[in-house]
This record gives sequence, structure tokens and C-alpha cells, in this order.
Amino acid sequence: MSRITAHRLTEMKRAGEKIVVLTAYDATFSALCNSNGVDVILVGDSLGNVILGYDSTVPVTMTDMLHHTRAVARGNRDALVIGDLPYMSYGTLEQTLSNSAALMQAGAHMVKLEGGAWLADYVRALTERGIPVCAHLGLTPQSVDALGGYKVQGRDAESAAKIIADAKSLEAAGARLLVVECVPSTLGKQLSDALSIPVIGIGAGVDTDGQVLVLHDMLGLGEKRPKFVKDFLTGEAGGIGAAIAAYGKAVRERKFPTKDHSFS
Ligand code: KIV
Repeated sequence: MSRITAHRLTEMKRAGEKIVVLTAYDATFSALCNSNGVDVILVGDSLGNVILGYDSTVPVTMTDMLHHTRAVARGNRDALVIGDLPYMSYGTLEQTLSNSAALMQAGAHMVKLEGGAWLADYVRALTERGIPVCAHLGLTPQSVDALGGYKVQGRDAESAAKIIADAKSLEAAGARLLVVECVPSTLGKQLSDALSIPVIGIGAGVDTDGQVLVLHDMLGLGEKRPKFVKDFLTGEAGGIGAAIAAYGKAVRERKFPTKDHSFS
């Protein structure tokens, strides 16, 4: 199998094939994702919470992201690897370009940044320089202090319209993928219908073009289990690899997420 590209993800959206995304932070789990059918590996800054023990992603640095992106790249074969730009690593255009270049040189095939239309110029500059970009809207964990906590976003008509406008502006600037986190399922569907690029949901309902979960959540390792998470390991006889395969199968067959994992 040849490596999954951004182009292939757009083809999958057009063909109505669900895209399976999972976070990974090291070579072993990267290889397990490869052997169990994961299309996209996100080296998420969620590593701050699940690997480094912080209570948010705010303390995560470029040094952390580069270290883990290199490890994931070493274990990867076929998946598209996305590297997260951590907190304040894209505060200026110069920072955005040099930190994105560093993530690509560490083995990422795409970079992800959190925020709305204000990032359009940065997304355009990266796109013009050949760096594929994944945008991230809805609940953006790096802004947890400004948002007042980990809350569902886009619940009222005005904030939902702003998220759709932000998404269109980032798509027009060249973004190749959108992650949308913790929004009502109606908004997840509206975004997927409105954009040509694939929309990957996490807590965004059943109708997005693909699904992402944090690895530790889908293995049932978290102390808390948010509504949008399902533990695929407990009761799975085949161990961790089989749990990853079961997650991919459930996403592809539209059995996960269900309405019970969605916000109304
Ligand atoms: O950092 C991360 O793992 C993420 C996902 C929650 C989408 O951004």
C-alpha cells in the first residue's frame, strides 16, 4: 500500500469513505496504527496531558513536539502523519513558518494549528510554500483559559455561524483538512456538507467525514471518559492492536460514533 496523502483524503471524502484518525506519540504505537488500518496519525499536543502529565496542552513546547514527531515518523510506513503546532508556536508568521518547517523535517506530512479566520494568512503562506495544513475549530484546547473550560462550542446560531465562516475562510486559504472538536452534531454535519476538504470530528456527531480519538481515551486509560469517547480495549480479546483495528472498523462501518457519543 502506498502512503496516504492529503489528495487521497479528499478522494475518500468524495467517495463517502470514512477517514480513520488516531493520535500516537511514539514509534511502537505508530507501527501498531499502521498494521491496524489507521489512515492518519495525529501527533497531538494532547501528549501534554496523556504522556507528560500536564493538566492542559498549554505547557507543551516545540522541543516536545519534535521529539515525539520523530519517534512516530520512525514507526510509520503508510499513514499520513500530522504534527501539532503547540501553544504560541504560531504567534507570528515567522514563527509559523520556521516551526512548521521543523515539524515537517521531523517527519510530519502536514501541520495542525488551532484557530479561526485570523490564521488564514498563515495558512496561505504555508500552503504557498508546500506545507499542507490541517485547521482545528470548535473546542480549541490551547485556548482553554480564554474559553473558560472544556465546553461544547457553537451551541447557538451566532457562534455556529462564526465557526462555519472560519472554516470556509481557512479552506479558501488552502487548508487541506479540518478537525472540529466538541460541537453539536448538527454543526458537524453542516461543516462537512459546506466544505470540500474532509472534516474530522471528535465529539462532533455522526456525520463528519472522519473521526479522531486520543489513543489513551480509546484504550480506556483516561480517568474521566468524556461523552464522545468509547473504550475499544476492554472486552477485546486480541489486545491493543485488535482494539485499534476495532476502532477503525467501527468508524468505517459508521458504528462509531453514535448519537450517544454526540452533543445535541
Ligand atoms: O492534540 C490532540 O490530540 C488533538 C485532538 C484532540 C484532535 O488535537
